[in-house]
Parts: sequence; C-alpha cells; structure tokens
Amino acid sequence: MNFSGDFSGRTIRRILSLTLPHWKMLLGFSLCIALTAITESTATYLTKLIIDRGILAKDYIYLRNLSLIHLGCFVATSVFIFGFIYFAGRLGQLLQFDMREKLFNHLQELSFSFFDRTSSGWLLARVTSDTRRIAELASWMLLDIIWATFNIIFSLIYMGTINVKLALMMLIIVPLLAWSSIKFKSYIIKEFRKVRSINSRITSAYSENINGVKVVKALTREGTNARIFGNLTEEMYEASFRAAWLSGLFMPVVQFITSLALGVIILYGGWEINLGGMTIGGFRAFIAFVSFMIWPIQDLARVFSEMQQAIASAERVFALLDMDPEIGDDPDASDRASFKGKIEFREVDFSYVVDNPILTGFNLTVPAGQTLAIVGPTGGGKTTLASLISRYYDPGRGTVYLDDVDFRRYTQKALQSRIGVVLQTPHLFSGTIRENIRYGAPDAAEEEIIAAAKRAHAHDMILNLPGGYEEQVGEDGTLLSVGQKQLISLARTILANPDIIIMDEATSSIDTLTEQNIQQGMEELLKDRTSVVIAHRLSTIRNADRIIVIEDGKITEEGNHRELLRQGGHYHHLYTSQFRREHSSSMLA
Ligand SMILES: Nc1ncnc2c1ncn2[C@@H]1O[C@H](COP(=O)(O)OP(=O)(O)OP(=O)(O)O)[C@@H](O)[C@H]1O
Ligand SMILES: [Mg+2]
Repeated sequence: MNFSGDFSGRTIRRILSLTLPHWKMLLGFSLCIALTAITESTATYLTKLIIDRGILAKDYIYLRNLSLIHLGCFVATSVFIFGFIYFAGRLGQLLQFDMREKLFNHLQELSFSFFDRTSSGWLLARVTSDTRRIAELASWMLLDIIWATFNIIFSLIYMGTINVKLALMMLIIVPLLAWSSIKFKSYIIKEFRKVRSINSRITSAYSENINGVKVVKALTREGTNARIFGNLTEEMYEASFRAAWLSGLFMPVVQFITSLALGVIILYGGWEINLGGMTIGGFRAFIAFVSFMIWPIQDLARVFSEMQQAIASAERVFALLDMDPEIGDDPDASDRASFKGKIEFREVDFSYVVDNPILTGFNLTVPAGQTLAIVGPTGGGKTTLASLISRYYDPGRGTVYLDDVDFRRYTQKALQSRIGVVLQTPHLFSGTIRENIRYGAPDAAEEEIIAAAKRAHAHDMILNLPGGYEEQVGEDGTLLSVGQKQLISLARTILANPDIIIMDEATSSIDTLTEQNIQQGMEELLKDRTSVVIAHRLSTIRNADRIIVIEDGKITEEGNHRELLRQGGHYHHLYTSQFRREHSSSMLA
C-alpha cells in the first residue's frame, strides 16, 4: 500500500500481527461489517424494486412488503453497526492494554544507562499517545478499510445484476475515484506538514533573534538575519497557499469525478432503458449506488492519509520494544542462590558518558562480612561505586568480583535478589505499609513481616499510625515522613534478607528518637553481612570495620576512625567540621 512513498509494509504487518491473539474480536467485527455492507447495499437495491414493481406496476401490497423489508434492513444495519463499533472498541482497548503491558515489562529490563539517556516525558508519550494511535490504526482504521471495501464490492455486485456493462464501467471509474482521492489527501497532508515545520523554524528564528538581539546588533547581523527570516516567511506563505488551494480543490475534484460517473450512467443508462436493457428503477438504483459509494471512498482517503502518523508511532514503539538491554545475562550465567559476600574491584575503568571517566584503574577489596563506610565530597563517585556493585552499569575495563567470580558470570536476578540496596531517598510504592515491606519477598507470611518490622525498629512506629500495617502510604510514600519511610525501607530489606547490603545513607536530619531507631535498625541489618555504606552519620562510620575516603574517583584515605583522624586529612576535616556537632548533640540527647 505505497500511497505516499514511505508507508512501511513491515510495520503494518507487525501491527496487524498484534491483533491475531484477539482474532475473535477481529472476526466479530469483520462479520458485522460484512453484514452491514450487505444490508446497506440491499436497502439501496430496493430502490429498483420499489420503482419498477411497486410504483410503476401500481402494486401497493408489494410496495407495503418492500417498505417492511426496507425497515428490516434498517434495523439489521443498526444492530450490525452497534456490533462492529463494539468489537472495534474492545479490540482497540485490548491492543492498547497489550502494548502498554509489553512496553512496561520491556522498560523494566532496560539498563540504567538507557534511563540516564532518555527523558521520562519522552517515554510517557510512547506509552500513552503512541500506543493509543497504534490501537486506533489496528481497530478503527482497519474497520474503515474493511467497511469501505465490502461496501464497494457489494454495491458493484448489485450493480452487475442490474446492468453488467454499466457495472464494468463503474469498475473503472470507482478505483480511479478512490486512487485520486487518496493521492489528493496525502498531498494535502504533506503540504500541511510542511507548513507546520516551517512555522516551527520561524518560531525558533524569532526567539533566537529576540533573545540574542544584543549579539545580533553587535555583530551587525541585522541585514543577514532579516534576509533569512524573509526567506522563511516567503516559504511559509507559499506552502500554506498550496495547502489551502489543494484542500479547497479536494471536494470539487471528488464531486467532478462523481458527476463524471453519474454522467456516464445518465448517458448510457438512458440509452439502455430505451433498448430495454435496463428499467427505470434500475437506473435510479444505479445513481443511488454511485452516491452511496462516495462515502466509503472518502473514508479510505482519510484513513490512508492519517495512517502515516500511526505508522510513525508504531515505528517508535517497535524500536523501543526491540531495544536490547545493554546489560544481559550470559547464556551460562549462574543463578547463584547465595553469596559469602567478598567484593573486589579490580582495575575498574568506568564512565557514564564517553570521554568523562569517573573511575580509572580502581581497586578495592571488601572481605566477606565486613562493613565498609565510604565518605567523601559530593560528586566524588560514592554512588557510582555502589551502583557498580549491583551491576546497574557495566565497567568499561576491568571488572568486579563477587566471591572471587567475575560478576558478569552471575545472572542479574541472582545479583538483584542477593544484593540489597537501600537508597539515599527510599522509594515507597502507593499501597499499604504491609505491601511495601513485602515488596522484595512477596510470599512472606504475616509473622515474618512483623518480625522484620520489629528488627528494623519500625513496628512501634507502624502501630502508632491510625491504620497500622494497613495504613496507605500515598504515591511515593508522600503521606509519611522521611524517617518513617526509611524505617519501612529497612524492614523491607531485612525481610528480603540479602547477602550483601549497599546503603546510600540519607543526610536528612531526623528527630533523635527516630534517628536512634534507624541506627538500631541498621545495625540489625548490617550484622553478619558484607555491607557498603555511603555514610553521613558519625554513628554509622564509627561502627564500620573500615572507612575509605573517595575524592574524584580515587581512594585518598583508608583506615578506621582513629587512624583516619590521626592522618589529619579530609576525614579529619569532615569530622571536625560536621561530625563533632552531631556528636555533641547526640551526647546531649
Ligand atoms: N547518571 C549519570 N550520568 C552521567 N554522569 C553521572 C551520572 N551519575 C553521576 N554522574 C557523574 O559521576 C560523578 C560521580 O557521581 P556520584 O553520584 O557517584 O557522586 P557521589 O559521590 O555519590 O556524590 P553525592 O555525595 O553528591 O551523592 C559526578 O561527576 C557526576 O556528575
Ligand atoms: Mg551519591
């Protein structure tokens, strides 16, 4: 169906293949459309019988019967129209649901780097408006095409029974009419598109000139810019003139070809009537058929011209669905059920974007069971290190070893289920507190949930809420305080019981009691497992087995609290400027 040169047959086939799982809907609506076309063309054919055998033959009983049949056709048509609109609507909804589900599942597989590159607004547009357009194409547009085709076919068949030669003539004129309308409509759409694109260039030329007016004047670019602007407006004028001209011409051209067809019928039909090859009723029915076929043809023209946009939507959605996650599992990756917890960075190079290395030749070993605290200035690379351990990103060179095995040899599922990540700002999902705690262990029993909440020192806080465990947390937990969210997220991680804990500690100030609760919850969580904590709280740091200072992607200091204080470097500075205050305030409390 190459009407405007860039329709893609492959995309259309792929869209149609989406409807196959819903073949019942498809069958239902095709059937209803076919029946509609039959009843509609039959009603038109009745014109012939009404005139010939009713009016001219003065047979009033026959006329009464015909009017009943006519009424029957109308009722049947209404029922079938209801049917196909219902089926097409259902099909559209199902398709949209399928596609959104597919996209949702696929997006969850894509790597972090994809989301770094892609704006959520762009993704939302793909998931909402593009899927809607594809569903419309595969339901309503398909419906229009089938309806028009059936209508034209049945009309031609009836016309053939009235007069074969005249029907054959229509067989030439109708495709001509269809072809020219479609061609015409796509020209018009193309011109309007051109107008829109020139218009947006004019807008940006405007805003650049207004915003940069001083530079324009300083560099005496006024003349040049005025010329560029003048060319653009001239282009715009010509394109909109063409668009207006063409769209004004559309209906007259369609009418003209239609009246050509009518002229042929009048001329040849009149002659045939005289020769006895056609009745007056047949003649009238023929004219009715031609006017009746104009609508499906118009519909086809509209559908084909709108199709391009839907295909563009489909191409974007399919490209997204075909996108491979950059981080995938090796075919022989091990689905390890547990880790002892030794972590080792060996000569790791890493960058988010090319030419901006964050880590180069980075080495670090965390023995199993150790709690490592990472401190350092903002932008130093702490979160980056934490993200690498859970393999949110792959290193450029070198690798991370878990239990002395390259972490790329494990499945992502193994890594994600055995490494617990507690984020700087804990994310809760809308739902109840219980659902949120159970998030990482959907099969957990009630007692286990409560036990985890108790270990996280969250249980009393939860019971103090009006709804207890049933309390709704709101979207992203907005109905709770930051401290409450942290306690719930700790309980969630304790319940999931990972072998390695990565924690990006929050800096937010929390009341002393909650702070103590969180501290106790954390100790409970970190006990007997390897943990890497990006630490902001003195208490966490002091409890850590080892502390490293990360500056500019490098370990600049390393040791325990006392050793680092003695070195008098960044850590000492951090301690004296920040922690001392915290220390004395917690002593007072
Ligand atoms: N998604 C990203 N895409 C590109 N660059 C990033 C991305 N995330 C971080 N960076 C860059 O990597 C460097 C290290 O950032 P990182 O988030 O690891 O710092 P941090 O030590 O955790 O800082 P903070 O204490 O503020 O959390 C920074 O220069 C930052 O600009
Ligand atoms: Mg960070």
